[in-house]
Amino acid sequence: VLEAADQAAVRALWLKLGSNVGVYTTEALERTFLAFPSTKTYFLHLDLSPGSAQVRAHGQKVADALTLAVDHLDDLPGALSALRELHAHKLRVDPVKFKLLVHCLLVTLARHYPGDFSPSLQASLDKFLSHVISALVPNCH
Ligand code: HEM
Repeated sequence: VLEAADQAAVRALWLKLGSNVGVYTTEALERTFLAFPSTKTYFLHLDLSPGSAQVRAHGQKVADALTLAVDHLDDLPGALSALRELHAHKLRVDPVKFKLLVHCLLVTLARHYPGDFSPSLQASLDKFLSHVISALVPNCH
């Protein structure tokens, strides 16, 4: 479980992001597809062109899942269990790909919140997102 200070930092950032989480997850997805084209193979059924409404809709789903995670920092494996099933067994996402998306999300947030993005916020966010990955990937410890 995330330490109290990390939890507080993540909750405070999420409050600041407000209803814009989906904007940033969408930018993170666009960056992931550009910087790491192998990730696109999972989304061949979607329109991945820049500004795509389908990518935006998917970004909002990812955002809602991350907000759910922020609301359940004490039980991420429980809160994300259905998504773990989906990604592991139905979608068969290579565990390595999660780190690529998380990397691009950190870059996106650093770009939009440069004043907030201290080394300590980066560390807290990185821990939070590592816990999210652990909850989404079976036996990744
Ligand atoms: C679907 C969350 C990482 C591939 C979804 C959905 C959510 C989600 C909420 C929608 C589930 C539903 O409709 O019931 C997340 C989160 C991630 C993550 C929180 C990590 C922080 C990834 C990665 C990949 C991936 C790394 C592959 C590179 C997919 C695919 C779908 C999906 C292919 C189905 C899309 C569709 O057909 O509409 N994800 N995901 N996800 N995810 Fe992820």
